[in-house]
Amino acid sequence: MQCGTALILGLKTILQVCSVALLELDNLNIAVASKDKLLPVVHDCSLSLAEHETLGIVGESGCGKSLTALAIMGLLEGSQVKITSGSIVFDGQNLLEMKPSRRRLIMGDRMAMIFQEPMTSLNPVYRIGDQIIEVIRQHRRISNQGAKQRALELLELVKIPQPEDRINSFPHQLSGGQRQRVMIAIAMACDPALLIADEPTTALDVTVQKEVLDLMLDLQQRTGTSIILISHDLGVIAETCNEVAVMYRGRIIEKARTRQLFSHMAHPYTRGLLASIPSVVTDTDWLEAIPGRVPTIDEQLSGCAFHPRCAHTKTSCSQTEPPLIEVQEHHAVRCHFAGEI
Ligand SMILES: Nc1ncnc2c1ncn2[C@@H]1O[C@H](COP(=O)(O)OP(=O)(O)OP(=O)(O)O)[C@@H](O)[C@H]1O
Ligand SMILES: [Mg+2]
Repeated sequence: MQCGTALILGLKTILQVCSVALLELDNLNIAVASKDKLLPVVHDCSLSLAEHETLGIVGESGCGKSLTALAIMGLLEGSQVKITSGSIVFDGQNLLEMKPSRRRLIMGDRMAMIFQEPMTSLNPVYRIGDQIIEVIRQHRRISNQGAKQRALELLELVKIPQPEDRINSFPHQLSGGQRQRVMIAIAMACDPALLIADEPTTALDVTVQKEVLDLMLDLQQRTGTSIILISHDLGVIAETCNEVAVMYRGRIIEKARTRQLFSHMAHPYTRGLLASIPSVVTDTDWLEAIPGRVPTIDEQLSGCAFHPRCAHTKTSCSQTEPPLIEVQEHHAVRCHFAGEI
């Protein structure tokens, strides 16, 4: 190996070891109150996100991705969904032990979230400028004029054409892509350290999807914000994230650095997700689908949660739930036969 290459690899390793965790979820459990019992819905979820990095959470519908995100944002309070155990440490503080009033100060300021469908998140009866100004004034001591100036800068930053005119528009006067850009402007208004994007582009067509994702990554380069990107689409995750967590029925079933995951997918579910993505390179008439569906939270199931749908299932798979174990450094898998299949 040449001396220069060795030096770069050495520096990369040092940077990896030194990267500071901004967010750490440790054995987070979430349950839904149903009649007189609690149905577990997210099980022992442990995740870590380093500063300036992007973590992708991927999985089919109903796997617990949004509930995990809402738990981090503190948006489960008052609903029938409860955090039953575990911790969420952000910036060195356990959010679950924090007073609600302090936690509310962090929301929208140090951490912000954008949702799949901006029309349900933007208020249809207020001009977009007023909605951005409101968020800025909630968290910063700033005059109305100063906040308006900042709102114009943000609209420019998210590439809304003619911001001076558009600041007075109502949400219905913008296209879907522009509305999602406004949501990004609101989320970025106070330069959050953490941005959670829950399926931010699913409702958009493919070209606008790419523009919105590129915009988020561009803003990340400028501001250093860490991002959690939730998606059904492993392709989107591959292009944008440093690390990937695959969720299935409320469990993390595989997590790894993105490169590691794509060079060796160890869980049959992750491989199934990849096989179901259409390819523009290979000419196929038929896409592989994972047979069956994600069981609902009230369906009783023993053993591995994926075993009824798995092509490699063996007797032990229906008997005991596999633990999440490291098969390599930074690569953990929840499968009895990881590495063998
Ligand atoms: N408020 C709620 N009350 C009862 N059950 C809920 C509630 N919110 C979510 N669930 C259930 O919890 C499970 C996980 O939901 P979640 O919204 O986290 O899934 P998801 O992975 O985000 O799915 P999608 O990709 O469709 O958004 C689902 O089975 C869902 O039906
Ligand atoms: Mg969701």
